Amino acid sequence: MTLDKSLNKILIIDFGSQFTQLIARRIRELGVFCEIASHKKIKNKNINNSIKGIILSGGPLNVYEINRYSFDKKIIEKGIPVLGICFGHQILSKLNGGRVKQSKHREFGLANIYKKRNSLLTQKFFDKKHIKVWMSHADQVSKLPKNFRVVASSHNSKFAIVESENKKFYGVQFHPEVTHTENGKKLLKNFIFLICKVKKNWSAKDQKMKLIKEIRSQVGENKVICALSGGVDSSVVAQLLNKAIGKKLYCIFVNTGLLRKNEERQVVNTFKKKLKMNLIYVNAENEFLKKLINVSDPEMKRKIIGKLFIKIFERYAKKIKNVKFLAQGTLYPDIIESKSVTGSQTSKIKSHHNVGGLPKKMQLKLVEPLKFLFKDEVRKLGLELNLSKEIISRHPFPGPGLAIRMPGVISKEKINILKEADYYFIQALKDHGLYHKIWQAYAALLPVKTVGVMGDNRTYEYLCLLRAITSEDGMTADFFDFKKSFTQMISNKIVNSIRGINRVVYDITSKPPSTIELE
Ligand code: XMP
Repeated sequence: MTLDKSLNKILIIDFGSQFTQLIARRIRELGVFCEIASHKKIKNKNINNSIKGIILSGGPLNVYEINRYSFDKKIIEKGIPVLGICFGHQILSKLNGGRVKQSKHREFGLANIYKKRNSLLTQKFFDKKHIKVWMSHADQVSKLPKNFRVVASSHNSKFAIVESENKKFYGVQFHPEVTHTENGKKLLKNFIFLICKVKKNWSAKDQKMKLIKEIRSQVGENKVICALSGGVDSSVVAQLLNKAIGKKLYCIFVNTGLLRKNEERQVVNTFKKKLKMNLIYVNAENEFLKKLINVSDPEMKRKIIGKLFIKIFERYAKKIKNVKFLAQGTLYPDIIESKSVTGSQTSKIKSHHNVGGLPKKMQLKLVEPLKFLFKDEVRKLGLELNLSKEIISRHPFPGPGLAIRMPGVISKEKINILKEADYYFIQALKDHGLYHKIWQAYAALLPVKTVGVMGDNRTYEYLCLLRAITSEDGMTADFFDFKKSFTQMISNKIVNSIRGINRVVYDITSKPPSTIELE
């Protein structure tokens, strides 16, 4: 377990809460760096001077089942302020001699809490008689440790907020990080700034300077290669490296033939012409099409595309002499080991081929400048690096591209039809000011032909499916509610302009039970 030592930070110790990443995002939104460490991995020796406060997260465990978790108590005995949230509050009490037991009434949802005394933690938090907070617990603290006192109570939880002022230990039974808790952000702010006394150190500008410095010191005079897809993450990585090491960076952009209309032109224009990067453009359309012909199984498509991508990437990377590093757009959620607390693993739905995981055989060292950032931070950093809003706020696009938006077999004809339909749809969203209200939208081509009538003639053509969803992070999604006038307009436009499509349908399933992509 290694923690960054260069910045003062709040350390979040994760006990498996579904909200742990949310706690981290809230702290960073307040302008302070924080890191997440699993309770299983973090040891007393990992606690360095840069840690100015510790947050113990919630979690699915019971404090009294001590054989199901391990925690080095010395971590909280170093005089660093500690805030325990839900399970974290219970374990903090237990470790200090208090008692935890199953509550008579489980509390899930909103509860009112009432102030009992003043505390630094709750300055300006109680701006009315009672505050609504989000509870989610079956156990509760039943006896407070010595020298702890009650700051606030709810009907069912006497110890809703507690503190030991001289030890700088604070516990809250509810979740201040969720938006349902009124003034939750104020409480976190008080902990960070009034109690831990950290200074703001986490703006996009701070990150840019820090990352450029780190890249320079890691890479030295060596060359770096980077697989550029034109998506947000790889674009930000490329531009960061461009600022840090300029011509020592070589980006390889592979046109799989499965990209959106004009995408290859835009990528070359932006990165080669405008930003003056070393960009190697590889047109591999035919190679991909040849391998995919007659393949209709979605997982096979993904595997073929992923493998061929790596092969082509390696082929071109080898042509660049003396490369020592590979830059990747790994993000923070990819590296946090938080989900394994209860040992459960989510079953595999799709094998995602991120252009990221490349190429093991070449034995290059990795440069992963975004590995401590969340997606929204990457976007802000991109803007700070002068990438256009158009690049930064683009909808996500899957690595296998249009191949997984075309169930059944793939053909050049179908790809061309789909590129046009997708283009008209996305353009219409932009023209009607809808693009940024939607998390992801695309057109797909279904492998069914249906009968239509155009003019006085019978047609027998493909079915185009439109998908537009709202989401926070792509894990769950709902369909976007268009006005009839828009759906009518886009349906007419697609059917009238594209030969090969005579019917348009709109996907009204949410995720779950559906997924965002069709395959
Ligand atoms: P699903 O379809 O699983 O998609 O609901 C969730 C998000 O992931 C994107 N996606 C992919 N991205 N490689 C990627 O880089 C893939 O193979 C892949 N499959 C799905 C999808 O577009 C959505 O944003």
